[in-house]
Amino acid sequence: MTQSIELNINGARSVVTADPGTPLIYVLRNDLKLKGTRFGCGAGVCGCCTVLLDGRGIQSCNTPVSAAQGREITTIEGLGGKAGTHPLQQAFVDEQAGQCGYCLTGVVMGAAALLGRNPSPTEAEIRSELDIHLCRCGAYDRILRAIRRASEMISKRGE
Ligand code: FES
Ligand code: FES
Repeated sequence: MTQSIELNINGARSVVTADPGTPLIYVLRNDLKLKGTRFGCGAGVCGCCTVLLDGRGIQSCNTPVSAAQGREITTIEGLGGKAGTHPLQQAFVDEQAGQCGYCLTGVVMGAAALLGRNPSPTEAEIRSELDIHLCRCGAYDRILRAIRRASEMISKRGE
């Protein structure tokens, strides 16, 4: 049964009418037209659909919209905040990290969760965070370079 659900997305309040069990990604893409979040496996195993929920990376394909109610949702559209471009987005461009680009929204959001809690992660920590993210193009080396570059940018900014 549908009901009114209040969401806080990218710093703004939105109210949608949806079944509480609807996967969050459908609400983001179909109701709110936030098309940056990508649908891949639909089963929580490819990382394509990752968004931030209270700063933590979650898979929006297997998270019911009701679980996001009253919490802070960040999608790729809001990642840069007022600055517009997040260091990760800049670093991915600088390193030309993508090939087809399909996985990149999820990868960037997963990396944002990591850098949010640990701005200077080790190589092992980056690899561990990215475990869930499948890149069908195999652009992993460039993705790793871009995340390291973003980490350096964030560290310099903090100096
Ligand atoms: S589409 Fe959500 S993890 Fe693959
Ligand atoms: S760049 Fe194509 S799937 Fe990752």
